[in-house]
Amino acid sequence: LHVTWDAVAAERGGYPHFMLKEIYEQPRAIRDTLTGRIADDLSRVTLPELSWSDDFVQSMDRVHIVACGTSWHAGLVGKAVMEKLTRIPVDVEIASEYRYRDPIETAGTLVIVISQSGETLDTLAALRDAKARGRHVLAITNVVGSSVAREADDVIITWAGPEIAVASTKAYTTQLVVLYLLAVYLGQRRGTLEDGTAKQILAALAELPMAAEQVLDTAPQVERFAREWADARDTFFIGRGIDYAMALEGALKLKEISYIHAEAYAAGELKHGTLALITEGVPVIALATQTDLYEKTLSNIKEVKARDAFVLGVTFAGDEEMRHSVDEVLYVPRTLPVLAPVITVIPLQLLAYYAAVARGNDVDKPRNLAKSVTVE
Ligand code: G6P
Repeated sequence: LHVTWDAVAAERGGYPHFMLKEIYEQPRAIRDTLTGRIADDLSRVTLPELSWSDDFVQSMDRVHIVACGTSWHAGLVGKAVMEKLTRIPVDVEIASEYRYRDPIETAGTLVIVISQSGETLDTLAALRDAKARGRHVLAITNVVGSSVAREADDVIITWAGPEIAVASTKAYTTQLVVLYLLAVYLGQRRGTLEDGTAKQILAALAELPMAAEQVLDTAPQVERFAREWADARDTFFIGRGIDYAMALEGALKLKEISYIHAEAYAAGELKHGTLALITEGVPVIALATQTDLYEKTLSNIKEVKARDAFVLGVTFAGDEEMRHSVDEVLYVPRTLPVLAPVITVIPLQLLAYYAAVARGNDVDKPRNLAKSVTVE
């Protein structure tokens, strides 16, 4: 008997690629990132890693979130959530821009850097500059002991576990979870978030691992769809509000590993230029999870349908209206609209994955890209 042992295949735990393994690890990663951070009675968030005084919390008057790539996309969701729950103005900056643009800060500005690896050079340099200017820096990172973790004033770890595939998946969803926890934490300490609302959000957060498990059941539908679309030249992702942040991440995933050109657009902005590119059969992925923006998004969907685009609508289960407006619907388990990104991103990750596989690409190591960019 001859047994061959492939160490890398063993590490992949039966999955053909690390990326697929990491996508499927998300329910576990989300659970681990939540563990110990929500009180049993769902009344509050506990973040013992932050020893912030009341004075510090109350004097916070600005937040700058600084990151690159997918971590920057997590920051965009973070901005929406923090502003909603804490009413502190939040700017989200690409690290390589922030470093060179003399940002306007106050003594009460908190700088948050987000980095899966904790080694991205631009993010690390932005952290160092901010510290040199006397800012307090909080790092959200996946790697204990990374440069960013060592040099920041405070660190919150995302417990995604090692992420091997170049395209970030479970690191992103756990970054979102940390940003939600932080927003609730600050909202409660600053008195801008009512206990009842906090409880509702924390209850929904606690249910996310289960919802993430359920959304993985969409994999066969997404795979079929990705195969049909694998030859597309251009694709568009549209959404409003938090769904726009999702559109950006969905488009980035598709570009990174399938090499299909993808563009994300704020749905209401389409008519100011991009609509010219919507012609017969062009795939459009329309995200519509934000209740207060739903009708507006639906009218943007009608605009692209009128140009004969092929529309895949992504919305919460139970939404029958969507079925009549699009070519195909992808239903995700219902959660609070503010938490939707954690769930809706998973089918978008799968879409990119299956499209890349159908095109025969090196999924885990896409051309020209690196997992951790430690050069300028
Ligand atoms: C690289 C990776 C991306 C990642 C970005 C930021 O470009 O390919 O997946 O989002 O760096 O990395 P970081 O480790 O700082 O989150």
